[in-house]
Amino acid sequence: MNSLTFIIGDRKDLPEKYQDTMISMIRDFDSERSPFEPHLMEFYRNYWKTPRPLERETISVYAFNKSMELVGFGHSFWNIEYDNLDHGSYQIYVVPEERRKGIGTEIMRKLFTVIPTQIENLVAAALGGSIGELFLQKFQKESCYDEFYRAADLSEFSIDKIKAINIKEEQRISNLGYKFVELESFDYSSKFDEEKYVRMVERIWNDMPREEMSFGEDVITPDRYKSQIEYNLKKGDRNFGYAIAVKETNDPVGHTRVLYNKHRPSLVEQDDTGVVHEHRGHGFGLALKYKVLEKILVELNANYWYTANAISNEHMIKINEKLKHKIVGKKVFYELKRSEWEQI
Ligand SMILES: CC(C)(COP(=O)(O)OP(=O)(O)OC[C@H]1O[C@@H](n2cnc3c(N)ncnc32)[C@H](O)[C@@H]1OP(=O)(O)O)[C@@H](O)C(=O)NCCC(=O)NCCS
Repeated sequence: MNSLTFIIGDRKDLPEKYQDTMISMIRDFDSERSPFEPHLMEFYRNYWKTPRPLERETISVYAFNKSMELVGFGHSFWNIEYDNLDHGSYQIYVVPEERRKGIGTEIMRKLFTVIPTQIENLVAAALGGSIGELFLQKFQKESCYDEFYRAADLSEFSIDKIKAINIKEEQRISNLGYKFVELESFDYSSKFDEEKYVRMVERIWNDMPREEMSFGEDVITPDRYKSQIEYNLKKGDRNFGYAIAVKETNDPVGHTRVLYNKHRPSLVEQDDTGVVHEHRGHGFGLALKYKVLEKILVELNANYWYTANAISNEHMIKINEKLKHKIVGKKVFYELKRSEWEQI
C-alpha cells in the first residue's frame, strides 16, 4: 500500500515550492495524451496564472510520496452555468517513475470523494492505445466517443493553387447569393448581428456527433461565446477564420475558425467548422477551409494544420482528406456514472 499525502483544493492551495514541478507535470501530461509536441513551457507558466472561465468549477488533488515529492495529480472540471450541470470531466497523471504502484487509482478515488453531488457523469480522455487508455479501461470497458486526430503538412500546398481555387470559389458562392466574411477574435459582433452569429455557432456545436457520450446540448449565449474567445486569447491563441453569409440579409450560415498559439508556432489548430442544415449541399464546408488555408499559408509560419473529428463525422472527414489531412492518432473518451465510480 502506498503511503501518500494529498492536498485537495485549487492551484492556490499548492505550496509555491511545488509550482514549477506541477507546471512541468501538466506539460508532460499533455505530451502523453496527444500525438503532437506540447506547447513551450512559457505557455504552461501563463496557463497556471490565467484565471479559469467563471462558468466552470474545478478541484485538484495533488499527491505526495513519503519524501513529500509531488508524484501525481488529479483534476476535475464541471460546468456551473449554462448546460450539462450534471456532467464533469477528470484527468489523472502519475510521474513515470512511480507508475504501476496503484497511485493513479488512489488519486482517482480521492478525487471522486470530492466531486459535488449534482455530478452524475464523469468523462476522461486519453490517447488511443496509450497507457492512459489501459488505465481508463480498467474501470470502463468501452469508450463512449472516439476522435481521430488528423494533420496536414502545410509544405504540401502551393499558395498559388490555393489562391486560384479561392478566386473561383468566391465567384461560385457569390452566384449562389452568398459571400465570405473574414473573422478575427471578436469582430463577429460588429460584422454580424451578434445574437444570430452565436445562435449559428450553437446550432453547429449541437449538430456534431456525440456517439455514446451522454453529454447533452450546449447552450451558447453571446456572453459565453465571448468569454471563451477571451480565454483563448489569454492563453496566447490567435483566433481567426471566415464565415459564409447570405449576401442580401448578411445572415451568417457557416463558419470556420482556427487557433494559432504563439507558444507552439509549428502547429495550427483547426477549431470549429460548420454550416447550418438549410444551407448545406453547396460545398461551403470545403470552401471555408480553403479560405482559411490561404490565410494560414500567407500569414503564419506553421508546419502542420491539425484537427480532431468524431470517427463517425463522415462529411468533415471527407473534407479533411481532400485537404491532405492524414490520421496521426486517436483520442478516446471513457465515461463513468456515479454508481460506477463509487465502487472503485
Ligand atoms: C494512466 C496513469 C495515471 C496510471 O497511473 P498508475 O499509478 O500507473 O496507475 P495504477 O497503478 O493505479 O494502475 C491501475 C490500472 O491501470 C492499468 N494500467 C496502468 N498502467 C498500465 C500499463 N503500463 N500496462 C497495462 N495496464 C496498465 C492496469 O489495469 C492497472 O491495474 P493493475 O496494476 O492492477 O493491473 C499514468 O500512466 C499516467 O499518468 N499516464 C499519462 C496520463 C494519462 O494518460 N492519464 C489517463 C487519462 S486522464
